[in-house]
Amino acid sequence: MVHAKSWTLKKHFVGRPTNSDFELKTVELPPLKNRKVLLEALFFTVDPYMRYYFPPENSYGFPVSECAVSFRVVESKNSAFPIGTTVVAPSGWTAHSISDGKNLEKLLAEWPDTLPPSLALGMVGMPSLTAYSGLLDISGVQGGETVLVNVAAGAVGSVVGQIAKLKGFKVVGAAGSDRRVACLEKYGFDVAFNYKTVKSLEETLQKASPEGYDCDFDNVGVEFSNVVIPQIKKFGRLAIAIRGPISTYNRTGPLPPVVVSRGYSSLRCVGFSLRWILLLRKYEINLFVVVLIQGKIQYHEHITEGFESMPPAFMGMLREFGEAIVKA
Ligand SMILES: NC(=O)c1ccc[n+]([C@@H]2O[C@H](COP(=O)([O-])OP(=O)(O)OC[C@H]3O[C@@H](n4cnc5c(N)ncnc54)[C@H](OP(=O)(O)O)[C@@H]3O)[C@@H](O)[C@H]2O)c1
Repeated sequence: MVHAKSWTLKKHFVGRPTNSDFELKTVELPPLKNRKVLLEALFFTVDPYMRYYFPPENSYGFPVSECAVSFRVVESKNSAFPIGTTVVAPSGWTAHSISDGKNLEKLLAEWPDTLPPSLALGMVGMPSLTAYSGLLDISGVQGGETVLVNVAAGAVGSVVGQIAKLKGFKVVGAAGSDRRVACLEKYGFDVAFNYKTVKSLEETLQKASPEGYDCDFDNVGVEFSNVVIPQIKKFGRLAIAIRGPISTYNRTGPLPPVVVSRGYSSLRCVGFSLRWILLLRKYEINLFVVVLIQGKIQYHEHITEGFESMPPAFMGMLREFGEAIVKA
């Protein structure tokens, strides 16, 4: 008999999540039936967007859902998934689970030994696909234009900036510490600044691109975009990763008002949400593996050890740098 540990939500957060919002439960899994596999977790992601996917009141007590997990198959009655296969699934915070294989995505057969398997959840997973699709499919940015990105050292922002550089755009990035700014410079951003220490965000943006911005890839929300929008060029774009904005996640009070400026009159604003279906886009996944091997895109992971540490990793994720991963 396998005892599966799961993190469940006891009550919803008020402001910042706390340890008492979560409860660890153990259930006994039934014997494996035909065509089923038993999965043991290897890595989990804890992403900011998950704040929106915690269960409604009637599902409290069930495992926290909507988390990218990589698993190893440890018992199999399904020939498509022999023992030892590594798979990725949109499973919950569960250390062991049984699957019929429907939602399982195998790790690329040609996954290189030089790349850590945890990258299947971050750099070769949802955050990078969000960056890729948000910038190239959705924002409408074109050759030679100037792109501004905030949370620029984050899982999504760092890839937006690096893809934009590979495509020949001018890239300006805002991040929240000098260490992160140094990283953005290493990633090749044309201008990077610490938005927490600059005297004036407005002046810093003007200095970084006196001619204005063609595209603002916004991960933060209204406080930032109120300052940026007047500096977006005529017919420029505001691309919003709609599962953001990150500045609202732990907020309890009302949002600051949107300041309507002249910039709005010719602005194209596109919100987007990227779901698991995009993980099936093999072309982009292969592309990320290739550019990672070639060292053309750099990454930073923050790895927390132990399934028991899921809640603290989730709570600390907005303070950490890079893709937040928990090693089971
Ligand atoms: N549309 C979609 O399908 C989709 C998919 C994935 C992600 N997203 C969204 O994209 C955004 C970025 O995600 P991510 O995974 O890249 O995030 P992340 O790297 O995990 O973000 C953490 C960083 O956010 C910044 N931050 C935290 N609190 C903030 C606040 N109150 N105001 C401003 N910045 C704050 C901090 O960096 P700095 O201090 O350096 O800024 C922090 O290190 C999130 O809003 C997420 O929900 C959307």
